[in-house]
Amino acid sequence: MTSKTRQILVTSALPYANGSIHIGHMVEYIQTDIWVRFQKMQGHHCTYVCADDAHGTPIMLRAQTEGISPEELIAATDKEHQADFAEFAVGFDNFHSTHSEENREIAETIYKRLREAGHIEQRKIKQAYDPEKEMFLPDRFIKGTCPKCGAEDQYGDNCEVCGATYAPTELKNPVSAVSGATPVEKESEHYFFKLADFEPMLRDWIKGNHTQPAISNKVSEWFESGLQSWDISRDAPYFGFEIPDAPGKFFYVWLDAPMGYMASFKNLCDKRDDLNFDDYWKTDSEYEVYHFIGKDIAYFHTLFWPAVLSGSNFRTPTAVFCHGFLTVNGQKMSKSRGTFIKARTYLDNLNPEYLRYYFAAKLGNGVDDLDLNLDDFILRINSDLVGKVVNIASRCAGYLKKKCDGQLSANCSEPELYQSFVTAGEKISELYEQREFSHAVREIMALADKANQYIDEQKPWALAKENGKEQQVQEIYSMGVNLFRVLMTYLKPVLPTMAEASESFLNIEPLQWSDVSEPLTDHAINKFKPLMTRVEQEKVDALVEASKEDLKQEHDKKERKASTKNVDTKIEPIADEIAFDDFAKIDLRIAKIVKAEHVEGADKLLQLTLDIGEGTRNVFAGIKSAYQPEDLEGKHTVMVANLAPRKMRFGVSEGMVLAAGPGGKDLWILEPHEGAQPGMRVK
Ligand code: 2FM
Ligand code: ZN
Repeated sequence: MTSKTRQILVTSALPYANGSIHIGHMVEYIQTDIWVRFQKMQGHHCTYVCADDAHGTPIMLRAQTEGISPEELIAATDKEHQADFAEFAVGFDNFHSTHSEENREIAETIYKRLREAGHIEQRKIKQAYDPEKEMFLPDRFIKGTCPKCGAEDQYGDNCEVCGATYAPTELKNPVSAVSGATPVEKESEHYFFKLADFEPMLRDWIKGNHTQPAISNKVSEWFESGLQSWDISRDAPYFGFEIPDAPGKFFYVWLDAPMGYMASFKNLCDKRDDLNFDDYWKTDSEYEVYHFIGKDIAYFHTLFWPAVLSGSNFRTPTAVFCHGFLTVNGQKMSKSRGTFIKARTYLDNLNPEYLRYYFAAKLGNGVDDLDLNLDDFILRINSDLVGKVVNIASRCAGYLKKKCDGQLSANCSEPELYQSFVTAGEKISELYEQREFSHAVREIMALADKANQYIDEQKPWALAKENGKEQQVQEIYSMGVNLFRVLMTYLKPVLPTMAEASESFLNIEPLQWSDVSEPLTDHAINKFKPLMTRVEQEKVDALVEASKEDLKQEHDKKERKASTKNVDTKIEPIADEIAFDDFAKIDLRIAKIVKAEHVEGADKLLQLTLDIGEGTRNVFAGIKSAYQPEDLEGKHTVMVANLAPRKMRFGVSEGMVLAAGPGGKDLWILEPHEGAQPGMRVK
């Protein structure tokens, strides 16, 4: 290769040390890992580091609830996270923790430099304080009634019902979510980073194409709304690093989190001779530093972080690459639908490389959300990887092993075809470089089609039946194997495990990008073993069921905790939140039950004829265990009047009646106060 070796440092966002990794997180780790593996295959010196984000109030409180120290909690999480990442073949060169000596040192150095340069200011602020727990409360630990719409049980800074944002002090009837006590206002001294000092520098930085256009636009909006000083301190008790010369004050978790990138790298530099911390982080470094993050944390990475680095005499990132969020089957991941899938639950059921491939096939370099459609997932893996790629190797290997002792032909019989595969690699590598993985995958699959087409046209299986055609057949199958080798090289950043199995089948050293320039000739391959099996629908169903089960276990855990607090434990978990607009679409009407009948063959259903003022509706309701039909006739109830008709085994149901209760005999249809007339809207 002619291009010069680049020195590249890459990071993914640091996962919080108080929760499990789920497949939404995996979008980012897989995206980053593919890019890193691609760079390494190009022969560049690329280093990928990450760490657990271990500080902050939620981690401190979670450890308390579990009756362990925060150190014990983060140690256990670290183990869990690292095991998950390893099984997904995310190849970190180092995985560290923000609660580490390296990070303490870096945080203190940066802070002192900022302070000496006059970028830190101190002032007193008033905040909500829990007098029982004796701690200041972050907004999300205060709940109360929305000052705008009156909705109860809203978080301290915004109302999920009406969307209003407000200061926690404006909440009505506020309570501490930690102790239940009423918070009081208390004053304390805080330390602020003067972000506005860096406006000219940041404006310049953002002009330099260091992030995607959509993010740069967002940043410009932030400039317009003004850069506020950033509160980087928190009062004790807090799990984090104490601020130098400020007893009882701690660095806010978001200050030392991105420093964790540097700390993890520092920790690695201390173990490796080929890496020097200052070479990468000095202001005039020519080395490259990239952060892959979700678009939700762009503010921290495109404003605070470059400003903090610049103010403390370190280099700024070469680029910050943002991605969108994961949806499953077109919707936000949902615990009740079984689509909130933990990494571990996925790994218990399916091959991690299926997901790596699927994400690659969907990822571009923009910030759009990405959908995992489970039906499409099955089709895609089975058709592309099993049906196209693995198929090439499996259809060629048998004959070569049996008839030629695994020996590939001495020359390449179709140099032009081979060359076209090599040439395609230039475009594919450019697409990888640009993080246009879905486009790269499309190009690779087009090559796979071409390889299969070649074998189909040559019909080696027919030639094999003719005398004297042995050499020709060997050449065709050898050609197939060589095309497969090129494809696996191009797919290796996405499918490292399958690539490794292919390397042992091909009996070769680990594939590098430039290896494809020459085909394998006069070379013995090994016995073919299936490189990937088909995705089975049952396994995907089992994954969804297991994810619902995860929810139940979490719920049971909460119940056990709740029961010690003497709380009613018979309540089902609240379903995933819906937007106000979704709720507003539901048209609830008073309905008079004019007729109620048994349904032949149905043990749970009653057939109801409902009068809603403008004609009648036929509804099947699962309330037979609780009501005799005759008890219902003449009653008023509430129905969802605009539910799309559903075809059921016994006929079409044109709505739904509302009932409450745990089930069985304890089920009650809603009976509005008399005076409610059929057709009236329920508000
Ligand atoms: O949003 C999060 O999950 C944070 N733990 C990410 C931190 S990234 C970096 F700044 F450390
Ligand atoms: Zn509200």
